[in-house]
Amino acid sequence: MIIGVPKEIKNNENRVALTPSGAKELAKYGHDIYVQTNAGSGSGFSDTQYEEAGANILPDIKSVYGRSEMIIKVKEPIQEEYGLIREDQLVFTYFHFASYEPLTRAMIDNKSICLAYETVEKEDRSLPLLIPMSEVAGRMSVQEGAKYLEKPLKGRGILLGGVPGVRPAKVLILGGGIVGTQAAIMAAGLGADVTIMDISLPRLRYLADIMPANVNTYMSSEYNIRELLPSHDLIVGAVLIPGAKAPHLITRDMLKLMRPGTVLVDVAVDQGGCIETCEPTTHENPTYIIDDIVHYCVANMPGAVPYTSTLALTNATLPYALQLANKGWKKACQENKELKLGLNIIKGDVVYKGVSDAFDLPHHNVDNYL
Ligand SMILES: NC(=O)c1ccc[n+]([C@@H]2O[C@H](COP(=O)([O-])OP(=O)(O)OC[C@H]3O[C@@H](n4cnc5c(N)ncnc54)[C@H](O)[C@@H]3O)[C@@H](O)[C@H]2O)c1
Repeated sequence: MIIGVPKEIKNNENRVALTPSGAKELAKYGHDIYVQTNAGSGSGFSDTQYEEAGANILPDIKSVYGRSEMIIKVKEPIQEEYGLIREDQLVFTYFHFASYEPLTRAMIDNKSICLAYETVEKEDRSLPLLIPMSEVAGRMSVQEGAKYLEKPLKGRGILLGGVPGVRPAKVLILGGGIVGTQAAIMAAGLGADVTIMDISLPRLRYLADIMPANVNTYMSSEYNIRELLPSHDLIVGAVLIPGAKAPHLITRDMLKLMRPGTVLVDVAVDQGGCIETCEPTTHENPTYIIDDIVHYCVANMPGAVPYTSTLALTNATLPYALQLANKGWKKACQENKELKLGLNIIKGDVVYKGVSDAFDLPHHNVDNYL
């Protein structure tokens, strides 16, 4: 198959959908890989590394789209790319269709085959192509939180791990899923005194089993959160209710319970945030202060560490990309239910219920196309 890897053109996006190592794997099966010049530079991969792995470098985005049967990307196509995608071309990337109608309409009009990373789903309902970015954001939340606890950055001026003879900082993590677990591992590793809250008792049992001794589990409730806020230095928001806005576990009035310089990192900002005063911020200007409390609410945290994020993402996407390339999308989706759930739009027809519901579009049965 002819596979194209364009350079991401969305503002501040430095990830790339295929590493030189991934290119080598695809090349081994005899596929032709075309990578746009400098596509990997933001993640630290040079054109030469791709060429040595067996890929060909093309000078511009138009030639990559023009030549390829399958496009592998990271972010959803933006307007400049809509017209480059053509009938029957397979596009494997994050789309997040339900949040943006113009993109949905454009992909219907160009009659391409859109397979969305975010809806590839395993039998246990986990989302294997979203997990890596949650892992990155979870680990980063503590790194960023530790930084903003420093006095020059308006924090309380407390070192997360303390030092011999001085107590460590207290970290409270709301939500013990992927983000929360990774945040707890990082905070515990730095020596902080960590509490992780969830509403799922089985999840709390599991966390209590696997976490080191400096991590305590606690049932999440408004009463319990209010009890802990006055004594904690860093609070990480990591809750998710699938398909719904995040619940406001920390309301505006609760900011008064915290000490000045406490840092809130609301990772759930992309679902509206679990802290009422959360407003999306960017890496250029990640924080703001309300009632002396530092708020960090960056909506695309993994974007700041493109090297790690690219490797984490491509570790997860490559096995699927290989199946699509080796078998063609129809056979790959017939044989792999996880991939089949990734199909959102096929040749102008919406086949994913969440997308047709979002914009009142006719829904088509995916099996009719396989
Ligand atoms: N900002 C970013 O860059 C970024 C990156 C990745 C993920 N995220 C977001 O982070 C959030 C968490 O993602 P995840 O992958 O960890 O989800 P997850 O489904 O793995 O975990 C969510 C957890 O929240 C728990 N929960 C639900 N309601 C709760 C409550 N009232 N109190 C405490 N816990 C509660 C659930 O039981 C679950 O364990 C999502 O909103 C996701 O979109 C943001």
